[in-house]
Amino acid sequence: MLKRFCWSCILTLSFASVCGAQTLRQEADNASLLVGTAVRPAQLSETAYVSTLAREFNMLEAEDAMKWWILRPDAGTYDFRQGDEIVRFAQAHQMKVRGHCLVWAQYNPKWLTQAHFTDRQLAHLLHEHITKVMKHYAGEVFAWDVVNEALDEHGNVRDSLWYNRPGIGLQGEGTAYIERVFRWAHRADKHALLFYNEAEGEGLGRKSDAVYAMVKDFKQRGVPINGIGLQLHISKPDVDIAAIAANIARLTALGVQIHVTELDVSLPVDSSGGLLHPDDVNRQAEIYRGIVQTCLQYPGCTAIQTWGFTDKYSWIGSFSRHTRGWALPFDRNYDPKPAYRAVLDALSAGRSVPR
Ligand code: G3I
Repeated sequence: MLKRFCWSCILTLSFASVCGAQTLRQEADNASLLVGTAVRPAQLSETAYVSTLAREFNMLEAEDAMKWWILRPDAGTYDFRQGDEIVRFAQAHQMKVRGHCLVWAQYNPKWLTQAHFTDRQLAHLLHEHITKVMKHYAGEVFAWDVVNEALDEHGNVRDSLWYNRPGIGLQGEGTAYIERVFRWAHRADKHALLFYNEAEGEGLGRKSDAVYAMVKDFKQRGVPINGIGLQLHISKPDVDIAAIAANIARLTALGVQIHVTELDVSLPVDSSGGLLHPDDVNRQAEIYRGIVQTCLQYPGCTAIQTWGFTDKYSWIGSFSRHTRGWALPFDRNYDPKPAYRAVLDALSAGRSVPR
């Protein structure tokens, strides 16, 4: 397995150096930025997938392989095989690894959600999970999405398996359970950067105000938090880049890093998967450009990650019942799209000062 990875590494580096073509990875390295993507271990046997990945990115994140339902098939078993395969690939190609995600209210395995564990048992299971997983990947995963999507659209902490649980959090205690699991995570691996990862709260509004208030409170009270993940799953053309910039500015001013964690810009498609409006790809490219340029304006914005990199493997299709797609920088044949060129352009312009 490792031998194949090494060959891809040699082929990849020679491709870039011989052609002289800059890659996202080279331009991101020049701009002191991490450029990453979510990966699926099942695709690491596909040559085009592997060569594009190694050539264009300096950071990886498991799309699903480090989630509860894969890592922990039952209360007493941990299965690190898929996550370890991603870590091995990253190490063979000098890439960083982000971890995703230790605590989420959704997509948890049935043995956890339907077993009617007591509060005490759940608190033990959660603490054990965070500790075991972070210690397994200590020194290999440099940053973790400790908690994912805990807030609703109004900025309130969602009720969930973890929220109203003595020993974890309590109804009315707001972000107490988030604070507790961040403290558990820091004890498990004090070198890892700890992120709170959120969707649809990237600009200015009640949800991003709540994230800002939580970070300000945590920083004031010494709760170990190092960053905010802005997912940026974009499905509407009217993206308020200025609001995203203002949100990044105010969060980084609190002393936390920003990672764009799940960037994709989905477009309406017809029943055969073709674009409903072909020129949407140009608007899409400008949205990608704007996000990258905005991140580069703030030294505290240290990573940009797409949620997959080829339209061949994107969550969007199934999630949208195949009404949307074409969301990523490479098409289904691994050919770069206008979005790729826009990102490369923006990266090659390097860091700039906020407008
Ligand atoms: O692999 C199984 C397959 O064997 C089975 O037949 C099929 C039908 O049940 O399920 C397949 O697993 C699915 C997996 O994606 C792989 O396709 C899971 O059911 C499905 O829940 C899983 O969805 C993932 C989703 O998170 C939930 O974990 C998506 O891949 C992943 O892209 C998505 O990513 C999330 C981030 O973690 C958090 N932010 C939002 C983002 C998009 O929803």
